Amino acid sequence: MIKTLKQRRVITFLSFSLVSLSPLYAQTLNADKEIHYCEQQASKTLLQLPPLSNDLPRSIDGGKTTWRCTDYADWCSGFWPGILWNLYASTGKSAWKMAAEKYTAQLKPLVNHSGFDHDLGFMIFNSFGRGYQLTKRTTYHQLLLAAADSLATLYNPKIGTILSWPKMVQKMGWPHNTIIDNMMNLELLFWASKHGGDKKLYDIAVKHAQTTLHNHFRSDYSAYHVVVYDTISGKRIKGVTHQGYDDNSMWARGQAWAIYGFTMCYRESKDPAFLTFAQKVADVYLDRLPEDLIPFWDFNDPAIPHAAKDASAACITASALLELYGYVKDRRKARQYKSKAIKMLSQLSTSKYQSGDTNPAFLLHSTGNHPAGTEIDASIIYADYYYLEALMRVKKLQAGVKKI
Ligand code: GLY
Repeated sequence: MIKTLKQRRVITFLSFSLVSLSPLYAQTLNADKEIHYCEQQASKTLLQLPPLSNDLPRSIDGGKTTWRCTDYADWCSGFWPGILWNLYASTGKSAWKMAAEKYTAQLKPLVNHSGFDHDLGFMIFNSFGRGYQLTKRTTYHQLLLAAADSLATLYNPKIGTILSWPKMVQKMGWPHNTIIDNMMNLELLFWASKHGGDKKLYDIAVKHAQTTLHNHFRSDYSAYHVVVYDTISGKRIKGVTHQGYDDNSMWARGQAWAIYGFTMCYRESKDPAFLTFAQKVADVYLDRLPEDLIPFWDFNDPAIPHAAKDASAACITASALLELYGYVKDRRKARQYKSKAIKMLSQLSTSKYQSGDTNPAFLLHSTGNHPAGTEIDASIIYADYYYLEALMRVKKLQAGVKKI
């Protein structure tokens, strides 16, 4: 049936409105409102944490209302202090600064944890690192430099990467193992090399990223979780998984770490190879997302669409895409990255994903370690950390900052 131009315009308008109103396409994002929401939820967490303990919040399983806590030695210990620093940065309120200082101080024993694994970067950089950016405190600076040196002791020059998990050498028979998550912790090395630390830390970070780029990806640019290397020959032995569905699947958070990691490496090194690669690893992730843009925990889980989601991967990716937006020369492509990131954050800001009155975290529906059966469809502290970081990046872009 041939429609008049007016009829066609009405139909187009109605379809556009329906798509915009559908929860699958939650388009509008009010970053100020959502940051205020994070503040309210974080206040609830502060009330829930015992004042005289060294507890740090880590996760809340579905159906529970209280945080499962951990201490300074857990890989997640830096995220709560990091959230508090970011709330201070975005509100200017001294109460958040005081809380950030208190919880950051709890991580001081890490100074004695020499080179125990790559997670030192997550732990130290999100706590002391963020604190240093905001306060320029000398003690934080010294601790960061010491931690970077400690992380660098895990670097194997024959292979060209950091040994991510020393404990897995014996346990899994992986003589030298590097995990994709490790890309994130190169930021500490870059930072140290530019803030009074040894210049070789910069070379280690760049070499680790280059080796990972060559060895850690399948031909479609999806990442292996773990790559195992031979310490004698320095050669790659195999790619396997630890937290993904299987050795050849695309574990959602692993791919998110890759997107964020290569974008950050481009920021720090300005090597165009990292920028091109960040786009390749982002594109395979974006192409395979479900309609609501929040991935299932592993893109290859045969249980999809009934598999658990991983909101944390969406938060990490949204934050990374907002940074990538500032670097990509093809502005049409750049705008697509930004638009996808805003749609992800809009979706995460709906009542489906926000914890609200359910529990004091910011978000629901993340998955920690599915194969181990832990933290499945849970609230997890690193999802909250990257959600807030991404919202702050949106605000910066809205304020006209070109590169964040
Ligand atoms: N870095 C550990 C994880 O992503 O679960």
